[in-house]
Amino acid sequence: MDPSKWIDVTPEKFNYHLDHFVIPSHYEKDVSSILIPHGVIMDRVNKLARLIVDESNGPLVVCCILKGGHQYFADLVNAIKKLTKKSGLSVPLSLEFIRVKSYHNDSSSGDVKVSLTEEECKDFEGKNLLIVEDIIDTGATMVKLLNKLEQYKPKSIKVTSLLIKKTDRSNGYIPDYVGFAIPDAFVVGYALDYNEYFRDLDHICVISEHGKERYAL
Ligand code: HPA
Ligand code: MG
Repeated sequence: MDPSKWIDVTPEKFNYHLDHFVIPSHYEKDVSSILIPHGVIMDRVNKLARLIVDESNGPLVVCCILKGGHQYFADLVNAIKKLTKKSGLSVPLSLEFIRVKSYHNDSSSGDVKVSLTEEECKDFEGKNLLIVEDIIDTGATMVKLLNKLEQYKPKSIKVTSLLIKKTDRSNGYIPDYVGFAIPDAFVVGYALDYNEYFRDLDHICVISEHGKERYAL
């Protein structure tokens, strides 16, 4: 996706205070700012669904990257379903769930462990895959996952990530459909976690020092 087509979230343009929106009281001290309110996420998801449907040809295998991608996946699939009905365009969807874990043996190489059986992977042959991820940070995990999936000869692979982080550590990978570009900060909420916490927060927020300490391992 061309960067002019995504939303660049900068603190100057998006300057929400914590008391502008409702934060669950158990997380009040654990986030320092609201980066993207839930309603804005939902509006953007509708647009991404529109772009994806308009450019799709034929049935899609929508692949949810667990755990962080589950909320975006659920809302995106719902948006595509509604859109399909309204526009008269019809895109059959099948749903797949992939748990991805990165293992780094040393600093220069790493392997990604994918929770798919050989049989499930073989089903990808000739299909149009849409990978749904919550965030592209360095891009390393996604590049390795794509290398793995390409071995199973899908007809096409497209990737959508709700967020892309603007970081020096990026390997330059850019997904086909991006919701928002965000500053180089650790974000939580909308299924993005810090040590498994904050998945139950609707807005995408920047974690505070208090939150990091409280939920440190
Ligand atoms: N938040 C949550 N999970 C992540 C992040 C982040 O900022 N970057 C990569 N995984
Ligand atoms: Mg993720």
